[in-house]
Amino acid sequence: MARSLAALPKAELHIHVEGTLEPDLAFEIAQRNGISLPYDSPDALRAAYDFVDLQSFLDVYFIAGGALLTLADFSDLALAYLERAHQDAVAHVELFFDPQAHVSRGVPLSDIVGGLSEALAEAHTRWGMSGSLIACFLRDRPAAEAMAVLDDLIALNSPDLVGVGLDSTEVGYPPALFRDVFARAADAGLHRVSHAGEEAPHTYITEALEALGVERVDHGVRAIDSPELVQRLAREGIALTMCPLSNKRLQVTPDLKDHPLLVLVEQGVKVTINSDDPSYFGGYIADNYEVVREVLGLTDEQAADFARTSIEVSFASPSRKAELH
Ligand code: HPA
Ligand code: ZN
Repeated sequence: MARSLAALPKAELHIHVEGTLEPDLAFEIAQRNGISLPYDSPDALRAAYDFVDLQSFLDVYFIAGGALLTLADFSDLALAYLERAHQDAVAHVELFFDPQAHVSRGVPLSDIVGGLSEALAEAHTRWGMSGSLIACFLRDRPAAEAMAVLDDLIALNSPDLVGVGLDSTEVGYPPALFRDVFARAADAGLHRVSHAGEEAPHTYITEALEALGVERVDHGVRAIDSPELVQRLAREGIALTMCPLSNKRLQVTPDLKDHPLLVLVEQGVKVTINSDDPSYFGGYIADNYEVVREVLGLTDEQAADFARTSIEVSFASPSRKAELH
């Protein structure tokens, strides 16, 4: 069964490239850059994965991501993930990355985007995989900083960059803070997504729809608390990119029996299954499908529907979608 879930052609739409950094690769990259991580070994880094909430995870995620400095680092990181994703029959991927986490350490934006693009091109050559980039702004940093990074991203004019998102610490940093940033992204022809309703209440999801004009919501777990919002998501065809293993590890839904994804699907919401930060949460995309099968009793037909939905709600071109359907 696990094999057949892994073999379903699917898109991964909620995947932070920094969250795919496995401890061994973090140490290898840190070593070649002469950076010392505040852990003695890859095992010691792994031992720090005792997360109790989103912030306790983000603290480790940003420390390990501090190993990344060069274009080659970003290319190696992304290619390692894309190779692993290919094993799970990921045919299309939209890679999130956090530019501010790196430009703040002096890494040129062109090296970040250049390295990620190099890996996407290699994955296309090797496996026929399609992919693109979504730059996420750190919501606990000032909106003016996000705006400056957006201007730089637009100036780079990368054909791989298809959208912007919003991530990092959620509670206390509501979407409307980034209204102007997302308006500018829309003017530049970029797609818009946002994390919302992971730790903060369903009102953040509504705010992301209204203030940011998002086309998809990342996580959106708390939508289940508002019947009106669930109806609206269904009516407007706004997809949720959900990540069950992440939600379990960060105590968003400590018992996966309570995860709302199948109830949301029954109510007509488009839901996809993704891995978020697989190096940290104990599983890649097929593992996330598998845990939903085990805990919530996903049937083969429902699993195939999730995979089809992931392609449908992706930002792939119409011709690519037609190829994958
Ligand atoms: N939530 C918010 N920020 C993040 C996440 C997440 O799940 N993963 C990486 N950055
Ligand atoms: Zn995420």
